[in-house]
Amino acid sequence: MPRKRVVILGSTGSVGINTLDVIARMPERFEVLALSAFNNKLLFARQLRQFKPRYAAIAPEHIDFVAKASGVTRRKISDTSPDSLSRMAALKEADIVVIALTGAVALDPFLAAARAGKTIAPANKEALVIAGHIIMQAAAQSGARVIPVDSEQSAIFQCLHDCDPLSVRALHLTASGGALRGLPRREHDKVSVDRILAHPRWKMGTKITVDSATLMNKGFEVIEAMRLFNMSVDKVKVLVHPEAIIHSLVEFVDGAWLAQLGITDMRLPLQYALTYPRRMKSALKPLDLASIGKLHFELPDTKSFPALELAYYAARKGGTFPAVLNAADEVAVEAFLKNRIRLSGIFRLVEKTVMAHRSVAAPSLEDIRCADAWARLKTEDFLKGIK
Ligand SMILES: NC(=O)c1ccc[n+]([C@@H]2O[C@H](COP(=O)([O-])OP(=O)(O)OC[C@H]3O[C@@H](n4cnc5c(N)ncnc54)[C@H](OP(=O)(O)O)[C@@H]3O)[C@@H](O)[C@H]2O)c1
Repeated sequence: MPRKRVVILGSTGSVGINTLDVIARMPERFEVLALSAFNNKLLFARQLRQFKPRYAAIAPEHIDFVAKASGVTRRKISDTSPDSLSRMAALKEADIVVIALTGAVALDPFLAAARAGKTIAPANKEALVIAGHIIMQAAAQSGARVIPVDSEQSAIFQCLHDCDPLSVRALHLTASGGALRGLPRREHDKVSVDRILAHPRWKMGTKITVDSATLMNKGFEVIEAMRLFNMSVDKVKVLVHPEAIIHSLVEFVDGAWLAQLGITDMRLPLQYALTYPRRMKSALKPLDLASIGKLHFELPDTKSFPALELAYYAARKGGTFPAVLNAADEVAVEAFLKNRIRLSGIFRLVEKTVMAHRSVAAPSLEDIRCADAWARLKTEDFLKGIK
């Protein structure tokens, strides 16, 4: 059987590194066709030496360094402009495109892969939040297959297994609760950035870890699930499950529930997407339910974590609201990581920007780009008056 050729956009991030780990264990099944990074030039040079992809991309200021350190001809390394990443995502030779980029930069390459009819394994949720309807429509038209690797969406995908959407009563996305679970809102600003970045269950990039602490990440996942599975917002629910063993559940109209369980390791959904529809032996340690003993569930505390309700608000309003929610959050989280605002400032900034927005119904890509740019400027504006 010919090896599947894989493109990984964002190979130096948490998801990208895990994807390469899965691939390195199955050299007879996969070949790395293209890799992209942004600032992590040392790791990227190492990845190019190890995996020898035919195509590579990194931020322009690092191209010379990476060429020298990896021995790859300079001319073979491109920059990370939207056009370059889109070309990589739509390469004729590519079988699977893993979208492991963080943020809205994933929009263009995701759409390019969808239009080119690729099998797409998206970890990135931001592109689906802001323009999921356009991406999924492009995928449907070209015959592209989208196999999510965000662990909750992968769980739903596995439970649904192409069943009739009318047989679904609700999707239940589980949330571990993040670093601040149980802590009242007035205490949030006393918690150090280091503690917020130390997620109790998952090791991930900084942006998603902060979003997990505020529950904005779960809000994004609600919108992501609506787009991926074509569900109305009222059918997508959130259940806090601190052990993070059940990755999500589907409730059917006849009263049956299906859940997907596993240890907390992104290599599981990543491998599933790469080998789909087959299941292959993995390197993960087995789940030992008897030693875990009990699993717990509770409703999210939306008083202490209002970002989740704000995401539902944006989802119900639709139009360009999700794009504004995402852009404002990207700006606010970056300000938090640079110590410009405290944790509670993230919600205040995002809420102010969302409430100031005038949405466009059934937005085109151009409308979404305009709303994204508007929200970034507006949030920067509000940032000046907040501490
Ligand atoms: N981490 C997880 O376990 C997990 C789970 C579920 C979903 N997700 C989602 O998956 C996506 C990636 O998450 P992550 O945790 O892997 O993020 P991450 O560790 O921050 O990695 C992001 C990757 O994107 C690259 N990148 C960042 N900014 C870029 C830009 N402007 N242009 C081009 N490339 C850029 C980074 O390059 P450099 O590192 O070289 O700068 C890195 O390779 C996010 O949307 C996240 O919400 C992650």
